[in-house]
Order: sequence, then C-alpha cells, then structure tokens
Amino acid sequence: MQGREQRHVSPHDLGPFSPDTIYHGDALALLPLLRGGSIDLIVTDPPFAIDFRARKMNYNRTGSRVIEGYREIPAGEYGAFTSRWISEAFRVLSPTGSLYVFSGWNRLKEVLCSLDEAGFSTINHLIWKYQFGVFTRRKYVTSHYHILFAVKDPGHYTFHKVEHYPEDVWVINREYWKGKKKTPTKLPPQLVRKILSFSSSPGDLVLDPFLGSGTVAAVSQEMGRRFLGFEVVDEYYRFALQRLEEGQSLPGQGRGSTDGRTKKR
Ligand SMILES: C[S@@+](CC[C@H](N)C(=O)[O-])C[C@H]1O[C@@H](n2cnc3c(N)ncnc32)[C@H](O)[C@@H]1O
Repeated sequence: MQGREQRHVSPHDLGPFSPDTIYHGDALALLPLLRGGSIDLIVTDPPFAIDFRARKMNYNRTGSRVIEGYREIPAGEYGAFTSRWISEAFRVLSPTGSLYVFSGWNRLKEVLCSLDEAGFSTINHLIWKYQFGVFTRRKYVTSHYHILFAVKDPGHYTFHKVEHYPEDVWVINREYWKGKKKTPTKLPPQLVRKILSFSSSPGDLVLDPFLGSGTVAAVSQEMGRRFLGFEVVDEYYRFALQRLEEGQSLPGQGRGSTDGRTKKR
C-alpha cells in the first residue's frame, strides 16, 4: 500500500488512511481497514465485468497510448465482488452518507440487489447518455450508463438543489484526450462535478475505491472536498497521482480520444 500525503488535516478518523491521499491496493482488502462511518460520499465507477480490453481500438483513440493493465472482474465472480464492496461502502459511510455507483446495463441486476442487501435506500436511478457508443450491426448501439444514487438514511442526506428542475437523464459528452498518455476509461469531470455539487459540501470526505485515472479525487480536490481513493493497478495509480500533483481535473486540453469501455457485440 503506497500513499501520498497532502495538505489538509481532517477531523475524520480514517483508521490507517490519511485524507487527501490515494493508495495503491485492492479495494476489497483496503475497505475493511477504513473506520466505519468516516466517509460522507462515495462516487465510484467499478469494473463492469464485460471483458473490457484496455487497448481495444475505439473511435478516435490510439491503442498504443492507452496504459495497459486494467483489472476486470471475471463474470462469474461479479455478484460476490459487488456484494462485498457495497456492504463495505454501507459500513464506511456516515449516517447521512450517500453513494453514487455507475453500472452498465448488463450487470445492473447485481448492483441493484447488492444495494438492497447492504441496507441502502435507492433514491434515484439516473441515466448518463453519452456520445460514441460502439457501432453495431444487429442490435441498438449502447449509449448510456446507469448511475444509482443511494443513501443510508432516506430521511437524512445531503442534497443541494443546485438546479431548479434536476432531471434524472444526464446528457454529458465523454472527453477527448488527444495525443496524451491515458487510462482506458475515464469519467467526464463535468459529470463528477454535478454529483459533488448536489451531494456534498466543501470539506466533505469523498471516497472512490476504484480510482482508475483518479477523476473523482481530482474533481474533489478542485472543488474543495477532501478525498480518499484506491486503485489496484500500479500504473493507473501513478497516473492518478500525477494528475493530483499537477492539480488536473482535466488531463489533456481540447479534443482527442474517448473513454472506450464498451464491448462490441
Ligand atoms: C472503470 S475504471 C474507473 C475509471 C475512473 N472512474 C476514471 O475516471 O478514470 C475501474 C478501475 O477499477 C480498478 N480496479 C478493479 N478492481 C479493483 C480492486 N479490487 N481494487 C481497486 N481497484 C480496482 C481497475 O483497474 C480500473 O482502473
């Protein structure tokens, strides 16, 4: 487990972890070490068990610039994997804490069942509509992900109504990372900013147990939230670390490549 110390001192007791730090390691091993009730918000985009291949060529993306090593979960283990991390997520959240978890449609069942089993109340089932689904011949092009917004206590949770009429379908484009070294999947910072604006306050502690390129930590840093995160692949961990050190919520300016975690069928 490697960590990186940063500026703030937290009133939260995180057990062996420090706030504003990301760690290289397996979330299933690290989450049980985190003190119960210590986290205000979890935003995470776990592996989807779709046999995603990091360097698979995709629209407007150069495979050789994509960092190898993405850790996927075998399909047969996905239910147990999901149930384990979601029950830990429930334990580590504060009594007023919230969870946003991303899911593809094909493994959504396991996520919904695990949320119920862990004791979460699901408040919204959001749809993120993006551009650039993978071309298909005999089926519709998948161009959305599911985002489950769940809380520990439906009577007490943070929800800043920063939009007058906040609908549950979000149309947000994926970003291009032209000509840059990149991890294969990356959430648009705009999407994470929206979640943090509604469901956290400055100084809150935001956890992402499956960091990838570190978007959730980078946006938390940008918005004055504290962060904690885990990533099992050393190269991705280092990529996220560099992003945080450079204060980038938006690596690569302008237009270039897409997140490509879409399996062609
Ligand atoms: C979909 S990606 C996250 C992408 C991220 N939201 C971003 O914006 O870059 C999921 C990440 O979880 C990592 N991962 C898979 N199993 C893990 C585990 N047991 N513990 C920690 N990280 C894991 C993968 O290596 C991958 O980087």
